[in-house]
Amino acid sequence: MSTENVTVVGLQWGDEGKGKIVDALAGKCKYVVRFCGGANAGHTVVANGQSYAFHLIPSGILRPEVINVIGNGVAFDPVVAMGEIKALRDRGIAIGPDNFRISAAAHVVMPYHRLADSLNESKLGEAKIGTTGRGIGPCYAEKASRSSAIRAGDLKDPDALTAKIKRIVADRNTLLAALHNAEPMCADAMAAEFVALGKELAPMICNTNALLNRAMAAGERILFEGGQGSMLDIDHGTFPFVTSSAVTACGVPTGAGVSPKSVGRVVGLVKAYTSRVGAGPFPSEQENEIGEFLRERGHEYGTTTGRPRRCGWLDTFALRYAADLSGVDEITISLLDVLTGMDEIKICTGYNIDGKLAEDFSPELMDNAECVYETLPGWTEDITGCTSFDQLPENAKKYVARVEVLIGRPAGYVSVGPDRKASLFNGSGLGELV
Ligand code: GDP
Ligand code: IMO
Ligand code: MG
Repeated sequence: MSTENVTVVGLQWGDEGKGKIVDALAGKCKYVVRFCGGANAGHTVVANGQSYAFHLIPSGILRPEVINVIGNGVAFDPVVAMGEIKALRDRGIAIGPDNFRISAAAHVVMPYHRLADSLNESKLGEAKIGTTGRGIGPCYAEKASRSSAIRAGDLKDPDALTAKIKRIVADRNTLLAALHNAEPMCADAMAAEFVALGKELAPMICNTNALLNRAMAAGERILFEGGQGSMLDIDHGTFPFVTSSAVTACGVPTGAGVSPKSVGRVVGLVKAYTSRVGAGPFPSEQENEIGEFLRERGHEYGTTTGRPRRCGWLDTFALRYAADLSGVDEITISLLDVLTGMDEIKICTGYNIDGKLAEDFSPELMDNAECVYETLPGWTEDITGCTSFDQLPENAKKYVARVEVLIGRPAGYVSVGPDRKASLFNGSGLGELV
């Protein structure tokens, strides 16, 4: 097996179809590794007529020969993980230490993180971030402040875990009463719940850093599965309307415990239009019948929260920035079929700021940007049945070609449906993985 690894990252605000592509590419990989985010992600895979939505379990799990890994950079929620493991087993998917591993250094999302997430959001009122409510921000904040953080490895030591939970909960209850006049949490019940979860998960918790480095030394290929999208990156996204981890390819080395040289081929996922869930700027948003068309045709309702996603035109000014951040080698254009039936399709190619065309992209520009659009003709043919790139209507091919030029990256694949098989290989990419 070749040693060229693959990294798949979203280049917009998430939900670009990463799960589908990761599952498809996983057929050529030995490991699939999550390195950022947590159960805020919702990755959909449609295979053999069945649909699966993964939040924490990596999207390689449907392939029996693949080992799926939760890296140290993930905010690991044992409740969600155990729920997903049981649901998968009920559907006949085997999952255990042979095909699923969790880094002992991954930080654990605790019930008080979820509570803090929702209290923070309600306190903010109109100014809220619109988080997924999964406790992600408070878990990463705990990681940064260190002394009360719990890591997956701690789940393996019941006595120490119980003592730690009791100490932390006593402290949090004091704050809850003083600041929110809220009911105290029961430390004993929480400790018992997490000790039980730890017992079930213990065989899968290990030193994944060593596991992955050994695998690479043996010439095995690893696929790093991004969560969220580049514009939600904690440092490089539309701060403060972002998530709390490093979600570009730059997050791979720290979030998976491998060297920066292990990132390999970087595939940037680009939805053929733009969607965003939660608050924050979105210059090319269409709060009109175009946005509604995209939402209905693309079933743009959150995989994790069910919220309607905001929809708008593609923004290649932002996409080029995102592609540069991750060192993207090639893009995949997904959900191209959703655009079928539009008379014309617009692409935002730049921003006018106070009447002047901006030279360099920066997320801060988005607050006052007026989009500069290019208009391309649409197509009416149903493309969901296309089995090769050549079969696409001319105008669909022209759209893909223009996006490639504007982002400055070749489109290796174009996706025309949710099924694992509905991807068209495009000759202008780097070539298929072998
Ligand atoms: P992720 O978070 O990036 O993995 O994406 P999500 O799974 O949250 O959202 C993508 C949605 O689009 C899912 O419902 C997928 O099944 C669906 N999807 C993926 N690729 C395509 C495609 O090419 N066409 C259509 N129509 N749907 C797609
Ligand atoms: P996938 O991996 C879309 C958004 C939330 C909110 C912001 C902060 O499926 O692409 P958080 O709960 O992380 O503190 O929320 O980030 N968000 C996502 N939006 N797809 C995701 O993941 C997301 N993960 C977080 O909606 O705006
Ligand atoms: Mg999603």
